[in-house]
Amino acid sequence: MSSTEGETITCKAAVAWGPGEPLKLEDVRVSPPRAGEVRVHIMFNGLCHTDVYTLSGKDPEGLFPSILGHEGAGVVESIGEGVTNVKVGDHVVLLYTAECGKCKFCLSGKTNLCQAVRATQGKGVMPDNTRRFESVRTNEPLYHFMGTSSLSQYTVVSQYSLVTVNPKAPMNRTCLLGCGVTTGYGAAVYTAKVEPKSTVAVFGCGCVGLAVIRGAKEREAAKIIAVDTNDEKKSWATKFGATDFVNPSSLSTNDGSNAVVDKLVEMTDGGLDYTFDCTGNVHVMRTALEACHKGWGVSTVIGVAAAGQEIATRPFQLVTGRKWQGSAFGGVKGRTQLPGIVDRYMQGTFPLDDYITQTVSLEDVNKGLEYMKDGQCIRCIVDMTK
Ligand SMILES: NC(=O)c1ccc[n+]([C@@H]2O[C@H](COP(=O)([O-])OP(=O)(O)OC[C@H]3O[C@@H](n4cnc5c(N)ncnc54)[C@H](O)[C@@H]3O)[C@@H](O)[C@H]2O)c1
Ligand SMILES: [Zn+2]
Ligand SMILES: [Zn+2]
Repeated sequence: MSSTEGETITCKAAVAWGPGEPLKLEDVRVSPPRAGEVRVHIMFNGLCHTDVYTLSGKDPEGLFPSILGHEGAGVVESIGEGVTNVKVGDHVVLLYTAECGKCKFCLSGKTNLCQAVRATQGKGVMPDNTRRFESVRTNEPLYHFMGTSSLSQYTVVSQYSLVTVNPKAPMNRTCLLGCGVTTGYGAAVYTAKVEPKSTVAVFGCGCVGLAVIRGAKEREAAKIIAVDTNDEKKSWATKFGATDFVNPSSLSTNDGSNAVVDKLVEMTDGGLDYTFDCTGNVHVMRTALEACHKGWGVSTVIGVAAAGQEIATRPFQLVTGRKWQGSAFGGVKGRTQLPGIVDRYMQGTFPLDDYITQTVSLEDVNKGLEYMKDGQCIRCIVDMTK
């Protein structure tokens, strides 16, 4: 039992007060976990573009004031009534894609999109429709975010929204598995199931795209073409396993055809076996589909497009055997699969270190968000203890 069990904890958090405003570091009160909930002492948090997107105000479902953050790793401080899957002192990774193991979705064996906490998570509240955060300064309740809110030194999550992992694994690495790395790697390995000797094109070489490249390499793809508008991503993509690099901005066409499609089709004798969109740009999604090989090419959408955007292609592209699909959190079931991935990291067969380009203290979290605008930032980690 911890000394704070049952008590409200006052700690520091980065609060998002309004769209476009910098995060404000301030004291928040975090209530004890209720039935089915867990309070976690967060040690490290990876910054992801979804945090930036919501903070920008462009996310129509974004709520303010709230505590962002969804790549969190920490230690269980206390558990609510009825919680049996974790215990005090466990080292955990938070899961924005929960896994209850008993809903229709979990039991289907076909998807990782557990619905147990889905509705309330989207409304910024706990499953009983109430909140656990309060600003000390204004006494206002604060919204939860993605069921995780890991930009607070303490947070409360559903028992389905976290998983215990190997306590020897460093938390400034395991936090990355809460979103970006798992998403990209899983999309290649679990959703698309890239086959040995196949050809792959990955559009967008941020953290997600680089993790796709690594997954495709692990699956022994013969050719992995990285496509990015930023030439500086060439060395990154090569380091992660890409065999070729194409910058679409350097290609031009006068006849109205898609120069990127033409180039990729030419490089692969007819098109790719697998393509992945890791940009969130709907035009790139179309290009990725159309660069697939006739008859069997599969394109996986990972990027999250801005609100209201739609994808388009001629139906003939699908009639002639190309497939379009999507992947959330890499198709990974967090509670079932993340412990194994952490063990692989410890054995040296699942690299995580290379994704980290910056580390900042919680106090400097806004500096971290600035770094993310720079094409050289893959992942910036926030040390929540400082
Ligand atoms: N489906 C999921 O579960 C899930 C989870 C996490 C992130 N995402 C999404 O994945 C996407 C990638 O995330 P990230 O963190 O790697 O982002 P990032 O911004 O770090 O990387 C995007 C990359 O795409 C490149 N790019 C931009 N426009 C391009 C274009 N027209 N053609 C080619 N390349 C282009 C950029 O130069 C950059 O290197 C985002 O849309 C994010 O919201 C989805
Ligand atoms: Zn994310
Ligand atoms: Zn479920």
